[in-house]
Amino acid sequence: MRDTRFTFCDTGHSAPGPCGSAGLWRGGWVGILRLSHVDVTVTDLDLAVAYYTEVIGMVLTERTAGSAYLKCWDEADHHSLRLTYAPRTGFGLMSFKVEHSDDLSDLENAVARYGFPVQRVSQGDSVGQGESVRFETPSGHTMELVHDVRKLGSALPRLNPRPYLFRPGGAGGDGADGVPPGIAPPRMDHLLVTAEEVGEATQFYSDVLGFRVTEQLIDGQGHQVGTWLERSHSPHDLAVVAGPNGGLHHFAYWLDDWDHVRDAADILAYNGISVDVGPTRHGITRGSTIYFFDPLGTRNEVFTGGYRPDPDFPMITWTEDNAGRAIFYYEGELNDRFMKVHT
Ligand SMILES: [Fe+2]
Repeated sequence: MRDTRFTFCDTGHSAPGPCGSAGLWRGGWVGILRLSHVDVTVTDLDLAVAYYTEVIGMVLTERTAGSAYLKCWDEADHHSLRLTYAPRTGFGLMSFKVEHSDDLSDLENAVARYGFPVQRVSQGDSVGQGESVRFETPSGHTMELVHDVRKLGSALPRLNPRPYLFRPGGAGGDGADGVPPGIAPPRMDHLLVTAEEVGEATQFYSDVLGFRVTEQLIDGQGHQVGTWLERSHSPHDLAVVAGPNGGLHHFAYWLDDWDHVRDAADILAYNGISVDVGPTRHGITRGSTIYFFDPLGTRNEVFTGGYRPDPDFPMITWTEDNAGRAIFYYEGELNDRFMKVHT
């Protein structure tokens, strides 16, 4: 009989942490818009750039001696992924974009009141973006908030654009839009991180930073072992599951529909990419998905569908005995690799 207990690693289940934030300022109005970029380390920068440009189909926007900056074709900002050479594959930071420059100081103060030190990063110290604030979260992740990111524009004009790109060899065009090869997702969507104390981390992200919890997975004692949080009226911009502090389970690209997910599966198979799970569908978020690994070991996802939660969206709860269907609705069970491999 398969052990269906829900844990993303060997460290056991999380429990709500002693946040002590009751009475702290609640951040419901703060201005986090969405994920700005994901920062990962790679052991072979040339190989990583080749994969993310030719198989994923991101656009390389800038390269320095040790880093590469990439964006998706429908993203206007300078980068949504930063790859940096390092001796081991790992997770650098998660950067979220705020709506107004004043949000930086408001959120800096909120994090400081929570008791965590905040570092200001000056304009010019990070390629492609202006001033930002960085801090450690209770889940052991480095988080960055930024307002000003250099605009490069997307592949389509802002005046009377077509609603699609001409794909090389595809109907309606000859590749004149410069569509990237490969999957060519229009944008980055979300990321999922691991935390020893999911409840404590969730309380920080929601109470201090203003994320709204759309769904939670609870164990038999009622403790949160997974939470899905949003700022952009999507099912999740950030998710937290039980696991070691500081871990990255995956980051995900948005695709427009199920046909694009099927095309992505074809492209992954053609390129010999290691597929972890899918194509399949989530119970949580209701999205359609494929999980796979880049050549250096970081898990990627392509994702589409789901619902549109307004700020008054009533949170959905899943119980641990339904964890299989919650994560992979068709299969109804979780595999060991999906649960234990992270960076
Ligand atoms: Fe995901």
